[in-house]
Amino acid sequence: MAGIPALLRRLAALLLLVMMVPAFAAPPAAKPASPWLRLEKDGLHDPRGPGIAVLQQPADALATLPRDTAGNMVNWVKAIDSGTINPRTNLLPETEVRVREDAIIVSRNGSMPAVRFPHRQHTLWLDCANCHDVLFKPKAGANKFSMMAILNGEQCGLCHGAVAFPLTECNRCHSVPNSSLPRRTAP
Ligand code: HEC
Ligand code: HEC
Ligand code: HEC
Repeated sequence: MAGIPALLRRLAALLLLVMMVPAFAAPPAAKPASPWLRLEKDGLHDPRGPGIAVLQQPADALATLPRDTAGNMVNWVKAIDSGTINPRTNLLPETEVRVREDAIIVSRNGSMPAVRFPHRQHTLWLDCANCHDVLFKPKAGANKFSMMAILNGEQCGLCHGAVAFPLTECNRCHSVPNSSLPRRTAP
């Protein structure tokens, strides 16, 4: 009676196979969702347009750059400082490239930590004329800043939240504890 154990063995093998199927069928461990929407889903590009097939997807372009937690999820200051990107500074040879290194405390002694404005991180991307003299007078303390105006898209808010990191990143501007600054003397 060799037939029965053979049948049992076959049944056991079948059972094992059936038990393994769900293991094979289970989806691979969930990958963290990409922070970038595909162009056809971003609500800006026409999903039926011919350009969709030609354009580079944001995830393909941005995934290798230093990651941020907000905005377009790229820390552009780190990207340039680390040399991950090396953007061309001028198209015309006669353009003078000016980088300024000083930083200015533009707000202090409020309820929030003081605001430090660094010229360097700005002049790596921008020319002086993007800000001076129309937007800001080039003199420490000469401009009156207001968080309300900034939230309305003026002053720093002209760029931050539009082309630079968004206003939700409070501590990137409000970065200096008031207690670390020399006390202001009464006027
Ligand atoms: C792009 C830079 C920037 C970002 C981001 C930013 N602020 Fe400001 N904030 C400023 C500047 C400049 C002033 C100076 C205006 C002043 O002195 O009143 C200011 C002033 C303020 C003030 C009034 C002064 C004070 O210290 O009490 C408050 C409150 C404030 N911000 C809260 C916030 C909060 C909350 C966030 C995040 C949701 C934020 N800010 C994000 C630049 C920024
Ligand atoms: C993104 C905007 C921006 C750019 C670009 C910029 N600045 Fe400024 N600059 C400011 C702000 C804001 C202040 C502070 C004004 C205040 O305190 O009221 C300032 C202050 C100054 C001051 C006064 C410094 C002091 O200690 O009194 C000078 C000078 C100046 N900038 C020159 C320049 C030059 C030169 C360039 C180009 C190499 C430049 N800035 C690029 C925004 C900018
Ligand atoms: C003309 C456009 C423009 C204006 C106006 C502007 N910024 Fe910026 N800012 C940028 C760009 C571009 C960057 C670099 C890219 C980024 O960090 O998103 C930057 C970067 C910064 C950084 C550096 C963050 C880091 O990671 O090192 C700080 C801080 C900052 N801005 C604060 C301010 C404050 C405060 C004001 C107003 C007084 C201001 N900015 C006005 C465009 C601007």
